[in-house]
Amino acid sequence: MTTGLVANRIEVMHGVNLDQLGRRPATHYGTLTFDELEQRITADARELGLEARFFQTNHEGEFVEHLHRLDGLADGIVLNPGAWTHYSWAIRDALELCGLPAVEVHLSDVDAREDFRKVSVVRDHCIATVKGRGPDGYRDALVRLREELQK
Ligand code: DQA
Repeated sequence: MTTGLVANRIEVMHGVNLDQLGRRPATHYGTLTFDELEQRITADARELGLEARFFQTNHEGEFVEHLHRLDGLADGIVLNPGAWTHYSWAIRDALELCGLPAVEVHLSDVDAREDFRKVSVVRDHCIATVKGRGPDGYRDALVRLREELQK
């Protein structure tokens, strides 16, 4: 599908431990490996007329520096910072200064798990949050970003 969108570059950013998908508890995270998840997101993005680019790290400073560098390279962000979501004020500040529209995604339903997962320090710098939808949640996030980029 083509949208004719000029701004269609989506940075899909994964944080700590998400490279280990496929080895993590399937009850929360499903059975897709990280590579399979990225392939699925790539296909969904293409179908929506978006171009997905991927970044994953287990190092918080690298995640922050990647956000610093996005200016001019991306039009929107799909963000799953993993456990950093719940306490990384550094990632929150970097997201704020980066200024791009971002959608927070969690594979699992963070609000139905331990109390510490109910807190998100990045949420108020995101235009939307998708949680508990597994891999489909990334498609939801892409659709939401596409709406935003069409404005
Ligand atoms: C997660 C939820 C976080 O609480 C957890 O630390 C993760 C993955 C999710 O996608 O459901 O690593 O962000």
